[in-house]
Amino acid sequence: MGGKCIQAALLGCGTVGGGVWKVLNNNQDIIRKRAGIDIKIKKVLEIDFEKAQKAGVPKAVLTKNPDDIINDKDIDIVIEVIGGTTLSRELILRAMQAGKSVVTANKDLLAQDGEELFGAAGKNKVDLLFEASVGGGIPIIHPLKEGLSGNQIKAIYGIVNGTTNYMLTKMSQDGSNYADVLTEAQEKGYAEADPTSDVEGYDSARKLAILSSIAFNTRVSFKDVYCEGISKITARDIMYAKELNYVVKLLAIGKETDGEIEVRVHPTFIPQSHPLASVNDVFNAIFIQGDAVGDVMFYGRGAGELPTASAVVGDVIDAARNKIMNVRGRIACTCYDNKIIRDIGDTKAKFYVRMKVLDRTGVLAAIASVFGNQEVSLDSVIQKRNIGSLAEIVWVTHDVLEKNIQDALKIIGGLSIVEEICNVIRVEGE
Ligand code: NDP
Ligand code: HSE
Repeated sequence: MGGKCIQAALLGCGTVGGGVWKVLNNNQDIIRKRAGIDIKIKKVLEIDFEKAQKAGVPKAVLTKNPDDIINDKDIDIVIEVIGGTTLSRELILRAMQAGKSVVTANKDLLAQDGEELFGAAGKNKVDLLFEASVGGGIPIIHPLKEGLSGNQIKAIYGIVNGTTNYMLTKMSQDGSNYADVLTEAQEKGYAEADPTSDVEGYDSARKLAILSSIAFNTRVSFKDVYCEGISKITARDIMYAKELNYVVKLLAIGKETDGEIEVRVHPTFIPQSHPLASVNDVFNAIFIQGDAVGDVMFYGRGAGELPTASAVVGDVIDAARNKIMNVRGRIACTCYDNKIIRDIGDTKAKFYVRMKVLDRTGVLAAIASVFGNQEVSLDSVIQKRNIGSLAEIVWVTHDVLEKNIQDALKIIGGLSIVEEICNVIRVEGE
């Protein structure tokens, strides 16, 4: 390639694509020195030319026809930041078939069709790099595949969704309720107009599927991840969390025990002293436990134009270096095992249970006895508040099997002395 440059193309010039254009241009000199060659965007696929021009893209580079990119033999790297799972999948596959390496930020697509896409990358001997798909600007995919690759990964605990972390932080710091903080998150542009994917945990589940596939060397898809969102968390649960020295976080949890893995996303009480407890606002963090390294945590901005572009451009430089050295496909798919993914009922955790019951003698004993019969061992109980004529009771269990506590709660919920089981939240990280 002596004296020439590596040519790349952008598919999509929205938030992330615009950021990629800016970073590649603003840091052109330093990137040339680090990569050992110039990296230029030759073409940009975008429907809305005006939007791309606002990001600084000249009209001459813009096209609405993907064939202008796929059929261009001078383009070595295709950067997919269109999003969605239909056109993006088709174009990524076509680009790889045409011998081009691909960089993508698309967690939705990877969590759904990862197996097919990595298979195609291997077959065509090209790179498929996706650092930005989890944790935005936080380097986590490369560390897992490279720096930590000598470890057996025991567990991953991630705060991988900025919108929900912002909402839970506000609820905790200001005592605000769920509906108000959701509106605030939308006004600030963090939550989408339709916030379902963030608040119901689907976005976190997709990111966990990607992380777990790498960490545990077995294919995990979005549909394999047990998922609960934050919409049932109330100011009252947050108040009790504080009293018990916990913080509420939406955690993406992946664990390997005895050759089986568990993958789950749900609101979680974690001790105030846990490193993840101080990850606030829109920040993300991924806490990993490896058998050799011990505990390690990666922290930063999980979304946004420039942080996400930082990760994408890092991958583009990697792909350019690999092309120059003729070593494409160096870190291929590492899902060489086929591990059992445990049913949520067979996983173990500590639980917080809040309920409203009749305020009369024998009630506590009756409920405790159901827990005992279902092998749910209790750690503590709080009864110090009344709601009208009803007593509010909070139980915290020891580590118990999920199916045992669910069975117990079914029986308890049917008792005439129990008005309502208000919330059930897992406790982790002790
Ligand atoms: P945007 O919607 O801002 O950008 C996508 C762009 O692609 C839009 O400008 C869109 O145009 C354009 N586009 C869509 N379809 C076509 C088409 N058929 N032909 C040409 N252009 C098209 O999305 P983001 O930049 O926010 O996200 C891109 C990807 O990055 C997604 O996969 C997302 O999950 C991922 N990501 C985003 C992060 C973020 O902070 N935004 C963080 C981490 C990952 P139009 O708007 O006119 O439809
Ligand atoms: N919607 C995501 C979040 C950003 O709130 O973190 C994109 O991954």
